[in-house]
Amino acid sequence: MDIAAYLRQQKDHLGQEAKSVRDFSVFDFDHIPDQPLLREEAKLLIDELLRFDITGIPTHYAIIGSRGSGKTLTLRYLQRVVPKHTSLQILYANCREHNTSFKILAHLLGVQARGASLSEMFERFCASCPQKTAVILDEIDLMSPKDPRREILYRLSRAEQPFLAIALANNPQVLKEIDPATRSSLQPMPLHFRHYNAAEISQILRDRAERGLVAWDEGRLAEIAALTVRQTNADVRVAIKTLFYTVTRPEESLAACFEHARRDIIIDIINDLTDPLLLILRAVQVAPTAFAKDVYGRYVRLCQARGEKPFSYVHFYSSLSYLQSVGLVALVATKVGRTFTNRVLLNFDQPIVEQICRLRFGE
Ligand SMILES: Nc1ncnc2c1ncn2[C@@H]1O[C@H](COP(=O)(O)OP(=O)(O)OP(=O)(O)O)[C@@H](O)[C@H]1O
Ligand SMILES: [Mg+2]
Repeated sequence: MDIAAYLRQQKDHLGQEAKSVRDFSVFDFDHIPDQPLLREEAKLLIDELLRFDITGIPTHYAIIGSRGSGKTLTLRYLQRVVPKHTSLQILYANCREHNTSFKILAHLLGVQARGASLSEMFERFCASCPQKTAVILDEIDLMSPKDPRREILYRLSRAEQPFLAIALANNPQVLKEIDPATRSSLQPMPLHFRHYNAAEISQILRDRAERGLVAWDEGRLAEIAALTVRQTNADVRVAIKTLFYTVTRPEESLAACFEHARRDIIIDIINDLTDPLLLILRAVQVAPTAFAKDVYGRYVRLCQARGEKPFSYVHFYSSLSYLQSVGLVALVATKVGRTFTNRVLLNFDQPIVEQICRLRFGE
């Protein structure tokens, strides 16, 4: 096809999109709806925040839930509405972007703070929080191994002034990984965000459709919700993206739109992995066997080839468990001789890792 023909085709295609979508922003994953579906677990958190507002006595929380189960959305929404009705301040930091206690504090203070110690930063942080403050730490499982004790949790739990920490994670193992001194001081209450059911996903889709689309079909929403629950552990992102494709690519079947959306989300997740996690995924792909120790051996070699220090086996293993919690790998216990050992299997098409590694590392 020549360039002029391609331009014409794409212009028609984009024109089609513009005609069927009223507001593209509702398909943005960071979009916070005015009235999100309220999960039961959110009510519990609201009660807890109200209690903290009145008594000043915090109960800290560790919220665990699978990909797309609404952890970030729910807490961001509470951050928006709860302070309007209470005297609480609610702060939010994402530990993927700010992956040590020091960086989180610098981010919350809005400073660069090179040269300061962690204690100085924490003092400054306390001074900047005159009122009762809840601190949301999203994706806490992605904190760097350079901060193995997740110091900020310890400090928040020991501070003289009232702080309430809410940590969000995909990986349930993160609770076991918290340093014992921190755990006994923080005593985080585990709260599991269960998978959404099909009716809930339909409702979330209906809300997006009402705001974002010119027309939609209820039966389609139900079909997308059912597929999402059956095939993705109820990842709402896949459902939202499928809905988007069904209206912007009317020539494709629903099943094709769903597969497309699912693949896109997997690519997004892999693209967002840190370099060490991506290398671990690559090692799973190229290791001589699927046994975890062979994968580790291959991972160490990949690090050496790049002149990087590999994770310890313990940290490597907890990274595998994180990759399992976001649905990229499956750890399958297999009996070898008299003991059980884990095999690591990729949950998606192998060439994706190869392509992303090539783009990221140029190899
Ligand atoms: N209760 C809800 N009401 C409306 N939209 C929702 C709801 N729950 C989730 N969503 C939407 O689904 C998408 C995924 O939700 P969210 O980002 O909160 O998931 P998550 O649990 O934080 O996932 P991850 O573990 O990947 O970070 C977002 O676009 C969000 O707006
Ligand atoms: Mg999230």
